[in-house]
Amino acid sequence: MRILVTGGAGFIGSNFVRFLVREHPAYQITNLDKLTYAGNLENLEGVNQRFVRGDICDAPLLAGLLAEHDAVVNFAAESHVDRSILDSASFFETNVRGTYVLLEAARRTPVSRFLHVSTDEVYGSMAPGQFATEDSPLRPSSPYAASKAAAEMLAMSYAHTYRMPLLITRASNNYGPFQFPEKFMPLALINALNDEPIPVYGDGRNVRDWIFVEDHCRAIQLTLEKGKAGGVYNIGARNERRNLEVAESILDALGKPHSLIKFVKDRPGHDRRYAIDPTVAETELGWRPIETWKSGLEKTIRWYGDNSTWIERARSGAYRDYYKRQYGAEIKP
Ligand code: NAD
Ligand code: DAU
Repeated sequence: MRILVTGGAGFIGSNFVRFLVREHPAYQITNLDKLTYAGNLENLEGVNQRFVRGDICDAPLLAGLLAEHDAVVNFAAESHVDRSILDSASFFETNVRGTYVLLEAARRTPVSRFLHVSTDEVYGSMAPGQFATEDSPLRPSSPYAASKAAAEMLAMSYAHTYRMPLLITRASNNYGPFQFPEKFMPLALINALNDEPIPVYGDGRNVRDWIFVEDHCRAIQLTLEKGKAGGVYNIGARNERRNLEVAESILDALGKPHSLIKFVKDRPGHDRRYAIDPTVAETELGWRPIETWKSGLEKTIRWYGDNSTWIERARSGAYRDYYKRQYGAEIKP
């Protein structure tokens, strides 16, 4: 199968490309990525793939690419909630209009599978004890989540109207190698490694369901192969943790003091808890996460510990300005 992967130089996309090349070499991959601040070709060093630098909003480019492929996996997005709160223009441009351009291209040049990578954030915050199923209402609360929900709705309308073979995955919080330092896990990990304070928003009791990135990648591949056209799949690891516990686990693993935790002003509109029920993926796709919280954390800590050059480059340049704006503090030189 010839697949067009969009956003494959980012965190999850590059892990997905690596996973396919290693475990499913029969796939022929083209990786289309705009290389925004979050895209990094170093994530793909030594990986045998065809790379095209380009924008999913570029209709003529997509028309040419779709003619050469059997399937699309759309990772390309602006993905960071805090940035969407500072300025959401690029989120609606890429996440909504970009998805629209991609769908239009697939309408004109049909593919056998169109997998759109979405997120559990489209369900919004869940009350204690409640779990979103694929039929739960979409109640996005951040501009990022709203852009992802809008993209999904658009994709579903194309599937309904033009009988497009659409698959949607809604995953929980990923962690693992190659995650850009703006996200909580790598931020906490890198700051702990450097003895810098870990900024924890609000009271630190917000809950996320953490999934090791490669488990998510395997679920996407299984969805592509076995998912029912029109199907939506929650991909979660049944691994709920409070942010404070995440920070403490990282500090404990590194033998660093909990005093590095610094409570800071809360994120506006901060969702208290994300929680999804992954039963459909487990039963229909036969998918289960392989990594436990302990093994996934160990692998992640080891990777960041071994890749100081990658970290240094990722934290240089414009990221320093973003960090100062977001946290009112300088990154240590
Ligand atoms: P990321 O920010 O690390 O990577 C996004 C990639 O998309 C980058 O390589 C970037 O250059 C590229 N990109 C951005 N705009 C583009 C455009 N207009 N055209 C082409 N490429 C473009 O994001 P991620 O964390 O790897 O997330 C990937 C996808 O998975 C996103 O759709 C996100 O919403 C979804 N998702 C992420 C998580 C998570 O925990 N990180 C969880 C569930 C779903
Ligand atoms: O749930 C899936 C989503 O997970 C994806 O769709 C998003 O692309 C991804 O960014 C992630 O969103 P979150 O907002 O949950 O992730 P983030 O890493 O930004 O934050 C995780 C939790 O940690 C959240 O409750 C906010 C908190 N946090 C985050 C940062 C950056 C802090 O306490 N301090 C921080 O500095």
